[in-house]
Amino acid sequence: MLIRPPAEIAPSEITPPDIYRDRRRFMQGMGALAAGAALGTASDAGAGVKLAGVRDSVHTLDEKRTPYKDVTTYNNFYEFGTGKDDPADRAGSLKPRPWTVAIEGEVHRPQTWDIDALLKLAPLEERVYRMRCVEGWSMVIPWVGFPLNEIIRRAQPTGNAKYVEFVTLHDPKQMPGQRSRVLDWPYVEGLRLDEAMHPLTLLAVGLYGEVLPNQNGAPIRLVVPWKYGFKSAKSIVSIRFVEKQPVSSWMAAIPREYGFYSNVNPQVDHPRWSQAKERRIGEFLKRDTLMFNGYGEQVASLYRGMDLKKFF
Ligand code: MTE
Repeated sequence: MLIRPPAEIAPSEITPPDIYRDRRRFMQGMGALAAGAALGTASDAGAGVKLAGVRDSVHTLDEKRTPYKDVTTYNNFYEFGTGKDDPADRAGSLKPRPWTVAIEGEVHRPQTWDIDALLKLAPLEERVYRMRCVEGWSMVIPWVGFPLNEIIRRAQPTGNAKYVEFVTLHDPKQMPGQRSRVLDWPYVEGLRLDEAMHPLTLLAVGLYGEVLPNQNGAPIRLVVPWKYGFKSAKSIVSIRFVEKQPVSSWMAAIPREYGFYSNVNPQVDHPRWSQAKERRIGEFLKRDTLMFNGYGEQVASLYRGMDLKKFF
């Protein structure tokens, strides 16, 4: 998002060959089989493997879904490069098992969760969410996950916990893009505690009913559907409760352009482009961007009385 303005997206960028998905899934399947055979690990860890026991959710949209192929080949994940197809091409070096997520900071019950225990923490739900990237494109993605508040309630935040910070893995061996200084690694994002507690705020572990592909933030990533996509940190290793407003990677990189809140708002332009319209991936004509990405009824009350031009 830093590198390229959100000009028109060339159709060639989002039209990978038909065989793409099958080839990738075949290779991932082979990888999972090999890992399972060698280590005796849970065979359900690999991308493309169906997640069991996923429930429907009331927090879901009845909107046309963006094809799986686009969701998994048109990505932003700077840890693997700044091109849209870099994550799908290069994220094979990420190892989503073994994996732990530390819950730390201002909580009465800090805890380090093994990812497979975390998967059993709460029932997995499918939630179809509208996602809007700050660059001007959007998708509709059927995520699988559970509300972040399930973890927060168990961790019991202290009275000092006002914000929550999300930290992505920092390991240039697995994430070769971290050898370049496009951002200050690790990738960090933050939410206010009430935003983090909101029932729409999801920790996703899958999409399209299957284990999350590496390029989409395996094994666990945040999804905050009323905010620009960059708030939804991928491949999280730490969830930290803090008193002061965190400085996110994008705020640190370009403070004039990226604020802490980053709520989708068609009336507040990015300094370099309008946010009034968006291109839904796969569609030709642009659509109007909706306030809070269409989730205003659920989330507008979080910002009552705030000047959203100032707190962008
Ligand atoms: N998380 C990390 N760790 N690194 C990133 O570069 N990119 C963000 C967000 N989370 C990013 C990240 C941006 S800009 C967007 S639009 C979304 O991930 C894209 O998510 P998707 O590729 O699953 O659609």
